[in-house]
Amino acid sequence: MGSRLVGYGSYLPEKIMTNQDFEKIMDTTDEWIVQRTGMRERHFAAENETVADMATIAAQRALTAAGLTVDDIDMVIVATTSPELDFPSVGVQVLGQLGATRDQPAFDVRGACTGYIYGLHCARAFFSTAMHRRIMIIGVEKMSRFLDMNDRSTAVLFGDGAGALIFEHSTSSYSGIIDTVVMADGKCFDMLHGSPDHKIIMNGPETYKKAVTLMPGAAQYIMDHAGITAENVDWIIPHQANLRIIQSGASRLGFPLEKILVTVDKHANTSGASGVLAMAYGMDNGIIKQGQLILYPAFGSGLTWGASLIRV
Ligand code: ACO
Repeated sequence: MGSRLVGYGSYLPEKIMTNQDFEKIMDTTDEWIVQRTGMRERHFAAENETVADMATIAAQRALTAAGLTVDDIDMVIVATTSPELDFPSVGVQVLGQLGATRDQPAFDVRGACTGYIYGLHCARAFFSTAMHRRIMIIGVEKMSRFLDMNDRSTAVLFGDGAGALIFEHSTSSYSGIIDTVVMADGKCFDMLHGSPDHKIIMNGPETYKKAVTLMPGAAQYIMDHAGITAENVDWIIPHQANLRIIQSGASRLGFPLEKILVTVDKHANTSGASGVLAMAYGMDNGIIKQGQLILYPAFGSGLTWGASLIRV
């Protein structure tokens, strides 16, 4: 019992914030940001643009690509860390904005930057029991909501955006969501967390040290579990948190840099939207081709970490 990908869509807000824009409002330089992170620009949502608005646009684009309507979807799972409202879930708001006329389940998962893999993990479990025919997974974030422009060590790192994938139940276990693994360690709470006044509290160097071992560890685990090696993987799309973390992880795993898809220069860290946005970018630009195997490892606040294997 498995799944296959039948449509995808993404959305990036119109406003682009470049490193040079940050130079004008805080004590930083393009050179520092590029050298330490690989980031050059990121998209920021408009003030009145909500997480649900962005998710809905990405979802509609995925539905159009798949030739489906929202009523054809049997479940919506949204990975997000930045919803403006405590309730209802963004998933339910998306159903409303898309004009769903039938009853179907929708819910959010919170796994910070690993949220998208937590969403895939849930979907894989539902497909394995053939409980639902079509599941839409959305990764969406408005990280700009959390940014403190007086804190240069975090303000430059994040961006906004949304991506959606629609999977359909399939009898093949070699397509769609092939495998997932997710983990969490609550002892590392202090390393990276939100504050009650919606700010990002991060020990950058400690988070960095964890990331360069946890992401490749999860990638290796899932390859071993699936009985494959780096040679079988067409693209590795690591969570786009920092170019140096991506390069270090790739070299630990023995992946050639040509197999690594990087969007951190264009999107910065979009947390739970990062993997799906990068995948959509790769497919939009003909970099990722139908039938290819994608390995996506991620880590984030919690700490949480994990990996997924998807054949597109
Ligand atoms: N511009 C210029 N200088 C800066 C900036 C900036 N934007 N930010 C920090 N600095 C300075 C610091 O003040 C410090 O100066 P000092 O030496 O005079 O004290 C110096 O640069 C070095 O600071 P470090 O924090 O040690 O720099 P580092 O090389 O570790 O890079 C970074 C910082 C980019 C944050 C890195 O640690 C990192 O990427 N960590 C991982 C972050 C991450 O992946 N977070 C995941 C978030 S996922 C989620 O779930 C939300």
